[in-house]
Amino acid sequence: MNTKPSFTPPSVWTEQLRDGLVVQIRPLRPQDMDCERAFLTRLPQDGLARRFVTLVKPIDDTVVRNLTCPDPACEVTIAAFARTGEGETEIGAATYVIRPDGLYCDCTVTVDPDWQKLGVGRALMRRLIDIARAHGIRRMYATTEHHAGAHALGEHLGFHARPDPEDPLVTTYELALP
Ligand SMILES: CC(C)(COP(=O)(O)OP(=O)(O)OC[C@H]1O[C@@H](n2cnc3c(N)ncnc32)[C@H](O)[C@@H]1OP(=O)(O)O)[C@@H](O)C(=O)NCCC(=O)NCCS
Repeated sequence: MNTKPSFTPPSVWTEQLRDGLVVQIRPLRPQDMDCERAFLTRLPQDGLARRFVTLVKPIDDTVVRNLTCPDPACEVTIAAFARTGEGETEIGAATYVIRPDGLYCDCTVTVDPDWQKLGVGRALMRRLIDIARAHGIRRMYATTEHHAGAHALGEHLGFHARPDPEDPLVTTYELALP
């Protein structure tokens, strides 16, 4: 018998940012390919690298398709969208990938530099954490080279930070989900 709690995320959450603007957060869908491609092209190299939980890949149609069609068996991606003059613009995304043990996951979050420090990263991660908890995940991990924003965000969310034993430039963040 499958004892995992079943959880269907709501299709859309709304979130008010620090500047008062209301944005939407929802799971990324196959029809978001154009938004995702535009988002990726706006990211600086370090932000682009953080869009991938594992191997960083050069951006092409296959990669964009894979990012917008996460494997439902082991992966969740949610993204934040703002209404701009150009329509709906993706401004941030967060993903987790479940490890083979089914109990731990690796996660990552990236926000468009023009939209940072407004609460987008925090809003995305809070929802990603809620989804992981509802799926029975016990611990979330993230790794990154030193980044003041990542450190502040991790601290705010209750992640425990420790230097990677194999690479002093890298910090591992760990969050237990009771
Ligand atoms: C890390 C990142 C996702 C934060 O996104 P964000 O939308 O700017 O974060 P928020 O606005 O929600 O801020 C969360 C906290 O971090 C702080 N913060 C954000 N950027 C900061 C920066 N560059 N320097 C210092 N503090 C920063 C905010 O003030 C806030 O602190 P508070 O909780 O005390 O108010 C974003 O900077 C980013 O995309 N960085 C590149 C990719 C990356 O490093 N991802 C994380 C590793 S997986």
